[in-house]
Amino acid sequence: MAKVAVLLVLLLATLTGWYVEARIVREGRDIQRDFPQEPSKVQVPIKINEDKFTSTTPTVEDEPITSSNNEEQKNLDINKNEDDDSLFQPEGRVLYTGSQLWKTVVDSEEKAKILAKLRDEEDITMWGGNVSAVDILVKRDSIGKVRSLLNNQNIRFDVAISDLQQAIEEENPTLEEEDFDNRNGHRLTWQAYHRLDDIHKYLDFLEEQHPDLVSQQTIGQSVNGNPIRLLKISNKQPGNKAVWIDGGIHAREWITPATVTFIINQLISNWENEPKYVQNTDWYFAPLLNPDGYEYTHTVDRLWRKNRRGSGRCAGIDLNRNFGYRWGGTGASKNPCAETYGGSGPFSEPETAAVQSFMSNANAKWKAYISFHSYGQYILYPWGYNRVVPPDYKDLELVGQRAAQAIRNAGGPSYTVGPAGNTLYPAAGGSDDWAKGAMKIKYAYTVELRDNGRYGFVLPASYIQPTAKEAMAAVRVIVEAASKA
Ligand code: ARG
Ligand code: ZN
Repeated sequence: MAKVAVLLVLLLATLTGWYVEARIVREGRDIQRDFPQEPSKVQVPIKINEDKFTSTTPTVEDEPITSSNNEEQKNLDINKNEDDDSLFQPEGRVLYTGSQLWKTVVDSEEKAKILAKLRDEEDITMWGGNVSAVDILVKRDSIGKVRSLLNNQNIRFDVAISDLQQAIEEENPTLEEEDFDNRNGHRLTWQAYHRLDDIHKYLDFLEEQHPDLVSQQTIGQSVNGNPIRLLKISNKQPGNKAVWIDGGIHAREWITPATVTFIINQLISNWENEPKYVQNTDWYFAPLLNPDGYEYTHTVDRLWRKNRRGSGRCAGIDLNRNFGYRWGGTGASKNPCAETYGGSGPFSEPETAAVQSFMSNANAKWKAYISFHSYGQYILYPWGYNRVVPPDYKDLELVGQRAAQAIRNAGGPSYTVGPAGNTLYPAAGGSDDWAKGAMKIKYAYTVELRDNGRYGFVLPASYIQPTAKEAMAAVRVIVEAASKA
């Protein structure tokens, strides 16, 4: 009798277990859609066992909606290879299989309107570029439509990335554990893009190793409660001018926190040999101003830009439209779903409010503000809110040109120098404008790092060191100017 009961229970458990599994597998397949994605729907907090995932023979019902069988197989293989739990990609991940990056030439208002229409119809998203050259992400299922439209309208284009998902998989190769663990007492390598935890532990490590030179503080909490960290390097001379350098305002611009931590590392490793203007500067670094967004790009959607307020397709505020100088003007959207949504008001977001309150309360002689973004290879100065320049723009232009020259001297590529609104596009609510306009910091720059649209945001990790080295050369020029200001 007891035996029968046990058997029944087992049978039931097996059956329900099987049912749950089948459901999860189906959800896992569903999210192989490419874009757009409803993250709230796909964040299934259950990790499934890869073996079950791969060994389930797909029935018609389980077929992915947009992936062909070949691509499906590829995705499964990738999952199978990742047997380390920490590397396992949660099934909520947004995939860009079959989507492409195109470089288009837009030399008329009319052509710009056509692209804007395609964007509004959600066939493409805009990645970067300037007034005449625009990089667009073309969604897999819209490729035919977009191609014939562009051909008809004489809009020239080149395909830079033929499969975005593949580019994403190849961008950040997994290092062997012995390549980086405890190498120098921390895990940063500058040969791979690292998670928030590695970056913050590196800052802790520096503070511990160099208590006389390095100090750290948390200047605020992100929407999801991650700390906004600030690292200060200072020899504490009373006359020191102060310089602010940040990265990671935009989540997907992975090269920027990597570059800021690289610069920190260079300074500290070489501190005794640095020139006076370096040693007698108070350096303030915020490598990762949008920690929630950054983590989200690692776990769910590689191409997320905004912070992580709210949920769903329209989550997030563009932190570089949320600063309180001419907030809400041109180039900032009022639509919460837009990539450039500026938020409900100036400094509505804890990430930007933290910067504002720290910088305005700090007892520091701010002379330079440098915000790293990507991509496009630009050295931009205010104003960004419109096609106008401040009275001392010639000083900013000159120092910007010198910085670009220093980059070339360091073996780097060419960076375009100019006022942001004119050179890129007007966009109000940027941190650089606030630094200049409200904080009155003379040398305020936004530096758009590599590349030029070959890989765009998905810049392979092998480019971290060359990019960060040239950025360091530019920083030296700006900081030297700041030391004399
Ligand atoms: N790519 C940056 C952005 O769109 C450029 C910011 C330039 N500065 C500005 N104030 N618009 O946010
Ligand atoms: Zn950016």
